[in-house]
Amino acid sequence: MQYRRLGRTGLKVSALCLGTMNFGWSADESTSFAIMDAALEAGIDFFDTADIYSYWHSGNRGGESETIIGAWMKARQNRRQIVLATKVRGRMWEGANGQGLSRVHIMHAVEDSLRRLQTDYIDLYQVHHPDWETPLDETLEALDRLVQAGKVLYIGASNYPAWLLMKALWVSNARGVARFDSIQPHYSLLHRSEFERELESAVLDQGVGVIPYSPLAAGFLTGKYTRENRTPDTTRQSSGLIKQLVEDDRAYMVLDVVRRIAEAHAAPMAQIALAWMLARPSITSPIIGARTVEQLQEIVGAAEIELIPEQIEALSAVSAGY
Ligand SMILES: NC(=O)c1ccc[n+]([C@@H]2O[C@H](COP(=O)([O-])OP(=O)(O)OC[C@H]3O[C@@H](n4cnc5c(N)ncnc54)[C@H](OP(=O)(O)O)[C@@H]3O)[C@@H](O)[C@H]2O)c1
Repeated sequence: MQYRRLGRTGLKVSALCLGTMNFGWSADESTSFAIMDAALEAGIDFFDTADIYSYWHSGNRGGESETIIGAWMKARQNRRQIVLATKVRGRMWEGANGQGLSRVHIMHAVEDSLRRLQTDYIDLYQVHHPDWETPLDETLEALDRLVQAGKVLYIGASNYPAWLLMKALWVSNARGVARFDSIQPHYSLLHRSEFERELESAVLDQGVGVIPYSPLAAGFLTGKYTRENRTPDTTRQSSGLIKQLVEDDRAYMVLDVVRRIAEAHAAPMAQIALAWMLARPSITSPIIGARTVEQLQEIVGAAEIELIPEQIEALSAVSAGY
């Protein structure tokens, strides 16, 4: 496994980050423990969760993923081995302040996350989405207090457009408070322009680490979806992204190129899709989702694959416009 600095910070993280959005619904506690064991065994020490995961599953209320990770770290006694990232913003309790990025929401939400995670610090605390009803200075000052208190070590943002990230960096600088050192955008061979249009230049210029989510397009880039079989073994069939991709002729043309390069490397297609991304200087650590240990094991070799320039060019050309 390679280890990379997160943006301009001194924090080193594995070149693949384990996403844990599956924990507490499509992966039960014992499967989640096995996935985390296998990830750490393979050198993946960077885990991403969010307080809201996985509220969407019937009977869940949010907090299930953090609770499973907390129980695992306690059982394995390995808190210091893990770079733990979580998020705040979504609705976690009833009432007008049960969601958002106000000081009051952040101060209560962080205590709940720490309790579920059974730890006294979060390595990377991220704002999940913008909150258009709270001034950025209120959010950044609240986060800075957490950094000063040692409850949070680094802060990051997710789903921020370039202009808002730049504004936040400016507010942090002007007020002398902690700044966002990472950004978590949606990014893959099949979802490029949202990141590449403006955000990519901003992060390169400002030294902000990038940890893209859904790098396998929710599983589409693993190659299990084909023109002939649009309903493989999956829990993501109802996601908007998959519904759109299975009907998109061009997406299968991207898969054809990924498949050809995968054959040349004798590697799984998922690793090629990740290797393309890892070759970009802006990218720190794609967040991979795995619902089983077998899925994880098929992906983990991605950081060892070196694509030649012609292969990177072929992948970029066929996916241009996404
Ligand atoms: N910040 C945000 O707003 C945001 C949004 C989404 C996700 N995230 C983060 O990013 C992480 C990853 O997101 P994602 O799950 O969308 O990522 P992804 O890596 O694009 O997709 C993962 C899904 O692909 C399928 N898969 C993975 N490996 C496979 C394999 N070897 N063979 C066949 N199928 C395979 C699995 O679903 P099936 O087996 O069910 O098909 C798995 O759940 C999440 O866990 C979360 O931490 C953040």
